[in-house]
Amino acid sequence: MSLSFDDILDWLRTEDPTALDELFAMADEVRRREVGDAIQLRGLVEISNHCARLCTYCGLRATTRQQRYRMSFKEVLACAQEAVRAGFGTIVLQSGEDLGLDAAYLCELIAAIRAQTPLAITLSLGERPRDELSAFRDAGADRYLLRFETSNATLFERIHPARTPDAPSRPQILQWLRELGFEVGSGVMVGIPGQTLGDLARDIVRFGELELDMIGLGPFLPHPGTPLGEEAADRLLIPFGDMPRDEAALLPAPNTVDMTCKMIALARLIRPSANIPSTTALATLHPQGRVRGLCAGANVVMPNLTPLKYRTLYDIYPNKSNPSEVAEEGRGDLIRQIESIGRTLATGRGDSPSILRRRAMLKNPETNQ
Ligand code: 5AD
Repeated sequence: MSLSFDDILDWLRTEDPTALDELFAMADEVRRREVGDAIQLRGLVEISNHCARLCTYCGLRATTRQQRYRMSFKEVLACAQEAVRAGFGTIVLQSGEDLGLDAAYLCELIAAIRAQTPLAITLSLGERPRDELSAFRDAGADRYLLRFETSNATLFERIHPARTPDAPSRPQILQWLRELGFEVGSGVMVGIPGQTLGDLARDIVRFGELELDMIGLGPFLPHPGTPLGEEAADRLLIPFGDMPRDEAALLPAPNTVDMTCKMIALARLIRPSANIPSTTALATLHPQGRVRGLCAGANVVMPNLTPLKYRTLYDIYPNKSNPSEVAEEGRGDLIRQIESIGRTLATGRGDSPSILRRRAMLKNPETNQ
């Protein structure tokens, strides 16, 4: 669908509930037509909470006084088996930027999951050098998630200090992932202090330009142990620097269910066949958050398979380890929720519809004309 920056901004400004219901219904219809009623389940395994970075929003930042863990090879493989038993088609291995998870170890892990299960393998391991990403792909990884967090470069630098001045940028890494034949996922947080509606509209435009296969969107949730969380809690939400303020500023930031659902709906309209999760952050914000996302264009849910003893330590934002999801029966609740809105559960890997075509083009670039 052609959706201009101005159209997107108009939708983001809209608060009229009837108009918003129309937007959500339109996105829901495109979702049904393009990716169907079956919800893809991706089992999430948070393999390490070590992190070398200092992102000002994230509870895993290097300096928080957090007990750290790194799952063993055997523990991760047991989770993969659990994903198969639970009927999931995909395992997502996520971690902080853990320098102790070296590439050779990860390649071995990926190859073992590939050899022992039929699961598609998604990685969400942060910013890694190109040669490592290439090795992960060769070892059998299918997909990679790396959110660009916000398209506003000034805001991004503020919340995500670079490792070194010449470190590759996230857009650069997303480009590598594409060249290497990964299914590529990215996304943003909604309602970062200092983010404007114009920034969010540009995020949507960027999703289209990047031709993303997967789009992850969640509300920013202030973590009290982080600089940005403290700032939000103190309501010291002062615009910084000389950021243009011509577009309605978001102060205090509307990290709301409605705003996140608007972003999900617009993401669906700009990338009709993308896999779009209704995220845990959205479910954390409100008991109906997950269902609201699924009715506004989302088609993926990522149940947490991390062993309980580690789950509470993977504390990127508060209350992430939602009690309703922790217990085994939590999964029953999730399935009931899905059925209550007339949707079904997918079987199989749930590859993005565009990836096979794209990989064929990578192999034979001359047919790409
Ligand atoms: N609130 C919401 N989302 C967060 N993330 C990290 N910290 C927070 C927070 N405080 C998101 C980022 C990251 C993803 C793994 O989790 O967008 O890319």
